[in-house]
Amino acid sequence: MANQMPVQHVCSFCKRLITISDQYDMPILDPQSGFAICRNCIKDIYNFIEEHDEKAEAQHQKDFAATLDSTIVKNKPHMIKQFLDRYIIEQERAKKVISVAVYNHYKRMKYGYDHGGDAELEKSNVIMIGPSGCGKTAMLQHLSRMLDIPFSVTDASSLTEAGFVGADVEVAVRNLYYAADRDIERTEHGIIYLDEFDKIARKSGENNSITADPGHEGVQQALLKMLEGSIVEFTARGQRKHPEAPTIKVDTKNILFIVGGAFVGIDDIIAKRLQKSDSNIGFGAKVEGEKDKKKYDELIRQVRPDDLMKYGIIPEIIGRLPIICTLETLNEDALMRILTEPVNAPVRQYQKLLKMDHVDLRFDEAALRAVAKKAIERKTGARSLRGIIEDIMLDVMFEIPKSNEPRRVTVTEDCITNGGQPSVETVTAADIAADFDDDDENESWTA
Ligand SMILES: Nc1ncnc2c1ncn2[C@@H]1O[C@H](COP(=O)(O)OP(=O)(O)OP(=O)(O)O)[C@@H](O)[C@H]1O
Ligand SMILES: [Mg+2]
Repeated sequence: MANQMPVQHVCSFCKRLITISDQYDMPILDPQSGFAICRNCIKDIYNFIEEHDEKAEAQHQKDFAATLDSTIVKNKPHMIKQFLDRYIIEQERAKKVISVAVYNHYKRMKYGYDHGGDAELEKSNVIMIGPSGCGKTAMLQHLSRMLDIPFSVTDASSLTEAGFVGADVEVAVRNLYYAADRDIERTEHGIIYLDEFDKIARKSGENNSITADPGHEGVQQALLKMLEGSIVEFTARGQRKHPEAPTIKVDTKNILFIVGGAFVGIDDIIAKRLQKSDSNIGFGAKVEGEKDKKKYDELIRQVRPDDLMKYGIIPEIIGRLPIICTLETLNEDALMRILTEPVNAPVRQYQKLLKMDHVDLRFDEAALRAVAKKAIERKTGARSLRGIIEDIMLDVMFEIPKSNEPRRVTVTEDCITNGGQPSVETVTAADIAADFDDDDENESWTA
């Protein structure tokens, strides 16, 4: 035993002699084939991979930066707005604010790459405030489809502080990571839209009794870290969170945040403030009685950071949302336009569907106005338009396909207000082809 020769191997790469009994010199061995790699060669391989990965990452950054030039040319503010105009009626200012914010985001990114990563140009996160059903969510959803960088929409009302039932705030970054096809470099330069942002307001704001509010303050603190720029760690989708689960790390310092919400009741807060500071303006008292569109919009336009604070958003977060953008209440005319003008307008969609049954569908102007009036009564902005149209179209959609005859169906005011039946007349096939103008068919930004 004592005189036994130590087992030796030859490294299959560098041919060096390795003594197995030497704990320090342990190689990787395949006893069956006699294949061995010595410690030195293992180190070399490791260094080789590291270097290769670093180069690949640098190249990836370069490639991404190179695409930015063309992205900037293709995403000037007026172009982004033009795209939004096809879907969103009115809200001119909000469309402008968002278009400029996105364009600046691209430029800031380019500047960062050109100047060694440290962006001196500060980002300008946006907060959007506007009544229910005025187009906040719709606008950002359409925007997300046109952008050349990852964009994700996350419902803030579903977020809870870690430890509570619900989604942690990291979910917002994780959504972006998947929108970026799991590319971390792209994720770190994306845009996160936090919808329903008002729902995370502290419940114990001025207007409310002090109720237990375990989640919201914590959510705001966690979101603040993200807004300030931090490394957010999350597990892959479908993977349970446990201490050993591998995590993905994303730095949020260059991510643009847009948040939006209806902030129901903030007009009262603004009215109170104005009343205090200048009784001549005289909003406050009148507002109690009739809160019509004009007064609401006038008030909301004057929103200031301290109003948001009173609403229950912590000041540090407000400080990180320097651009406040307000949207308007949609009036009857705007609602009528929403029914027919956007590329995806409800009336247009029914026209397309019925054209397949050789039917020319028309809505009398008075009918459209009646739909708009009904929607205003429901006080949910444009949200209820589709439902109202769907209600009256159900019978038409059911009855019409019974025959293959070319027809013209006209929805009248009576159909909307008294549940009357649309008028149906027989026409020639040529009539239908001529009447129907498919003007959006060859535009480049189709959904
Ligand atoms: N300005 C608009 N132009 C065109 N369509 C609109 C407009 N505003 C709303 N709509 C339509 O109404 C629907 C509801 O609007 P949206 O979801 O954007 O409301 P919101 O402003 O996010 O309201 P909430 O605060 O209640 O979430 C949209 O899906 C869209 O079809
Ligand atoms: Mg919404």
